[in-house]
Amino acid sequence: MKKVLKEGIQKELKGEITVPGDKSISHRAIMLGSIAHGITEIDNFLTGEDCISTINCFRKMGVDINVSKNKVSVNGVGLNGLKEPSGILDAGNSGTTTRLISGLLAGQSFKSTITGDDSLKGRPMKRIIEPLSKMGAKFLCMNNDGYLPFTIKGGNLKGITYESKVASAQVKSSCLLAGLYADCPTTVVEPSQSRNHSELMLEYFGADIKCHNKTEVSIKPNPRLIGQHVMVPSDISSAAYYMVAGLICEGSDILIKDVNINSTRAGIIRVIQDMNGNISLENIRKQSNEDVADIHVSYSPDMCGTTIGGDIIPTLIDEIPVIAVLATCVNGKTIIKDAAELKVKESNRIDTIVNGLDAMGANIKACDDGMVINGGVPLFGAEITTKKDHRIAMAFAIANLVCKGSVILDDGDCVAISFPDFYDKLDIIS
Ligand code: S3P
Repeated sequence: MKKVLKEGIQKELKGEITVPGDKSISHRAIMLGSIAHGITEIDNFLTGEDCISTINCFRKMGVDINVSKNKVSVNGVGLNGLKEPSGILDAGNSGTTTRLISGLLAGQSFKSTITGDDSLKGRPMKRIIEPLSKMGAKFLCMNNDGYLPFTIKGGNLKGITYESKVASAQVKSSCLLAGLYADCPTTVVEPSQSRNHSELMLEYFGADIKCHNKTEVSIKPNPRLIGQHVMVPSDISSAAYYMVAGLICEGSDILIKDVNINSTRAGIIRVIQDMNGNISLENIRKQSNEDVADIHVSYSPDMCGTTIGGDIIPTLIDEIPVIAVLATCVNGKTIIKDAAELKVKESNRIDTIVNGLDAMGANIKACDDGMVINGGVPLFGAEITTKKDHRIAMAFAIANLVCKGSVILDDGDCVAISFPDFYDKLDIIS
């Protein structure tokens, strides 16, 4: 549904805020809980639409999962206890659900079919079909080769060493989960390190997994995974909207509580420091094998542009829409490069970001692998085409805070994919 945002020029944002649980970790807790023995209790679970899609897929495979607000209890069926799905598995809008579940399904002797919404049907799946086929799974794509919907017939997997062309945690995790069912260890090598939540959580549940260095990880098959208590930290990708809001709105001072600051996710913190933003971490601690802290940001009028590229890109890939908004508000030029992966997210994010900010009056140019932004130019309200991409909608709601006039989102409801109460939380601190 169309959403007209309240005109909010230069609001002062103050106070403490918590954002929802981490999406990547919530998905993985359901998946590992399902194939572990015994009960997995999950606290601060993200009840966004993507993670609900994951729950529904496992319920269709016979796993008993109870959800009560943000607490979830998964009655694990063990590594070999999943049942042939009672119908087509619908991953909705979720690439993580599709690619990680495909790894698990590659290890099952039954047939299963996965589909998704129109956005997901347009996202490339060859990147997992290729390694999982090398391991021995059979894929049948119903419409277009390399895209959903597809049927997987798994079983009798061989362990392989797979050199991925892309730094993608979804590809890496898919291979590692299939590796649980292989005849010998499976190794994944990446061009640069992607988020490592699967590795940390597999270790936490008792798998035999070793990181040889940042870009090479091996897993041994057939572990006895044991259900655990998982305390999900808050999602840095959701915190990012408030971090940027606090930096760009005059007089702001915000503390965002209990955020996951895993170094494979926290590239945005380094970028804000490089740009001379006021940001600090407080109360740093470990929680269910993940690093957590409270993030303090305050208004930063002296920020400058920067160049973002290379190995840092996978550590902030989902934050680029809101980093682009930040770059329009600082002095000087920001270059975002080596980020061609943006084209295959929930929308083509190079296009959706550049078209939207251009419509608001920003000085921004698209490149093949990113964008160039000349900051310090005033922004004006405009109608934004979100392509129903949650991160685009939220990034432009933040741009609305510092523009003249109002941003109108062609679809405001898509924030429910990862942050159902996004607009209410923004009201609380503004
Ligand atoms: C995710 C990995 C990233 C990220 C996505 C979540 C995950 O995708 O963009 O939102 O949970 O593994 P890629 O693996 O395609 O980079």
